[in-house]
Amino acid sequence: MKTFYIETFGCQMNAHDSEKVIGTLISQGYHKVETPEEAELVFYNTCSIRDKAEQKVFHRLQQFKKEHGKGKTFAVLGCVAQQEGERIFEKAPHVSLVCGSASYNRLPEMLVQLETGNRRVTGLSLDTQDTFETPVTRRDNPHRAYITIIEGCDKSCAYCVVPFTRGPERSRTSASVISESLELARAGYSEIQLLGQNVNSYRDPSPAGWDFATLLDNVGRVPGIRRVRFTTSHPRDFRKSIVDAIEGNTALCNHVHLPVQSGSTRVLAAMDRLYTREEYLERIHWMKASRRPIAITTDIIVGFPGETEQDLEATLGLLDEVQYDSLFGFKYSRRPNTSALLLEDQIAEEEKTRRLAMVQEHQRNIQIRRNATYVGSVEECMVEGFNRATQQWIGRTSQHKTLNFLRPGSDADLTGQYLEVRVTRAGPNSLVGEAVN
Ligand code: SAH
Ligand code: SF4
Ligand code: F3S
Repeated sequence: MKTFYIETFGCQMNAHDSEKVIGTLISQGYHKVETPEEAELVFYNTCSIRDKAEQKVFHRLQQFKKEHGKGKTFAVLGCVAQQEGERIFEKAPHVSLVCGSASYNRLPEMLVQLETGNRRVTGLSLDTQDTFETPVTRRDNPHRAYITIIEGCDKSCAYCVVPFTRGPERSRTSASVISESLELARAGYSEIQLLGQNVNSYRDPSPAGWDFATLLDNVGRVPGIRRVRFTTSHPRDFRKSIVDAIEGNTALCNHVHLPVQSGSTRVLAAMDRLYTREEYLERIHWMKASRRPIAITTDIIVGFPGETEQDLEATLGLLDEVQYDSLFGFKYSRRPNTSALLLEDQIAEEEKTRRLAMVQEHQRNIQIRRNATYVGSVEECMVEGFNRATQQWIGRTSQHKTLNFLRPGSDADLTGQYLEVRVTRAGPNSLVGEAVN
């Protein structure tokens, strides 16, 4: 039996790609094991979004250098594979396969090449029209399933590697997305998360010609699907019709992740984000005006080249204005191929650290105040698991908040169930409550 191990870095698209790769490998007769030591084939599905993420795979490969010659085969997949290509063989000569996500359709054929003695195999073409679909996806979670609806990215944000690592946008047909949703519902999944680097620019390639809002609404109408989420939305392509779809369809969750990156129009222009602070806020107001209590989360980059103290103030002011439910903050990282590499006025690392801490401290206070308003309310939770240390169930609200709760007098496994939970306490990052009988 040929055994394999896979470790995944990066975003949900990578996590889901790995599920598809695992399904593909199993269908080719491979057997999945839980440690690299046990495996004949070791896969790393890599991320290149920031320098630290990229370095991780080289650390891993380094750790295994000594193992070289012991008969293991190493394969690098994902965004670092696409970005570095054959250079990976120079940096880590014990690697035999390098394949980017746009070439995963060719994986079975590449594995055959490896087995028949090819020492080095690559899949690096980006000029594909295909999306990576496989009938044998091995999903990690029995209740919540990812579906990729669009691959690649046609934007060119000045800091970002994704257009280089994942190629141009390719949308799946609406028919294949709906049939996968129906299958998932039949298999017992109740939550679907639609994935893409920019789901808003989804364009059905079939004659039906659905836009993203129409697709979203229809996935939310699949019988048995109780919750639909989507990520990520680019503000430029975020239409009012998405908010309308959420209003008209209770299966669509009360949550939109809308990365802003900066509150300064000047910095947004330098980043090539294609919207101003005001245009972004207009989208926020569509959501705030909705009858549905839509939670809003975002991504912020601090220390983009040329970012001034005033620009940072503009970002902090935006946080106050929007009152985000949570945010991911990042220090700007210089990335290969990107246009921002050429910009002057790089910000020193310690200064980026200081700015990130300011953003996070500011947001923490907003979250303390916001979460406190939930105390006393009853929220529907999808149960994700049980925390032995605290003896609490871990629930997820429609707004994507973690709600840890007690349910006295029951030993049954509640994972995957939907329960009403009364919020009794609130912290900056999660809520605490008790199940309502
Ligand atoms: N497609 C998504 C973003 C995917 S990357 C979008 O457009 O919103 C996730 C986040 O990583 C980005 O929103 C950004 O905040 C951050 N990021 C991307 N490139 C970065 C870089 N070079 N340095 C620091 N953060 C970066
Ligand atoms: Fe990167 Fe911008 Fe594309 Fe998002 S929209 S993946 S940040 S280039
Ligand atoms: Fe990383 Fe590639 Fe995702 S760079 S964030 S794994 S698209």
